[in-house]
Amino acid sequence: MSEAAIIPLDNVDPVLVEQLLDRAFEPERGQRTAYKVREGMDWLPGLSFAVLDAHDQLAGTIQCWPVALTDDAGKPHPMIMVGPVAVLPELQEQGYGKALMSATLACIAPGAPLPQVLIGDADYYGRFWGFSAAPTGGWSLPGPWDPARLLVRCDNPGVLPREGMLGPWRG
Ligand SMILES: CC(C)(COP(=O)(O)OP(=O)(O)OC[C@H]1O[C@@H](n2cnc3c(N)ncnc32)[C@H](O)[C@@H]1OP(=O)(O)O)[C@@H](O)C(=O)NCCC(=O)NCCS
Repeated sequence: MSEAAIIPLDNVDPVLVEQLLDRAFEPERGQRTAYKVREGMDWLPGLSFAVLDAHDQLAGTIQCWPVALTDDAGKPHPMIMVGPVAVLPELQEQGYGKALMSATLACIAPGAPLPQVLIGDADYYGRFWGFSAAPTGGWSLPGPWDPARLLVRCDNPGVLPREGMLGPWRG
């Protein structure tokens, strides 16, 4: 990755973002459980970014969403859902994904961080940023999921509910 630039995602034409996501994921990506978790939400502009390559072409994107884990007592615990993180296939493994993740995580207020949740490879998100599936074993999602890929990152995992249903943040 040389001379890449991180810019706010709302500076990018939404059509280009959708085209990039279509190339990084399968065409049926809208059926993924992650989409159901944040259904009806808008992505968070302050935490969502694009990365441009050395030719100022769109190389990758990251979006974050307001979600909540609703515990068995019906109490919602707000969280930030991270993803999709997507890099064009021909530009993968050059550091763009790491740059996007680092940009987002650096913008999460250190004094009052919300837990960050995502569905992805523990080898990647665990190794570089400390995401873990250990606290999510009792959580439910509104669709099929692989428990090993439901990951959370939290300064104090002790505050996380052991059980609950993940869904949109209804405020
Ligand atoms: C996953 C993805 C975002 C990673 O971005 P990237 O720019 O290719 O990766 P980076 O260059 O930042 O990181 C490379 C490092 O991560 C590792 N890595 C990349 N993808 C990985 C994965 N899925 N699982 C484990 N390790 C992975 C590489 O082996 C490499 O390790 P090294 O530094 O020891 O050599 C990108 O491959 C992608 O868009 N994939 C398709 C969409 C997707 O699955 N997104 C994630 C789910 S939301």
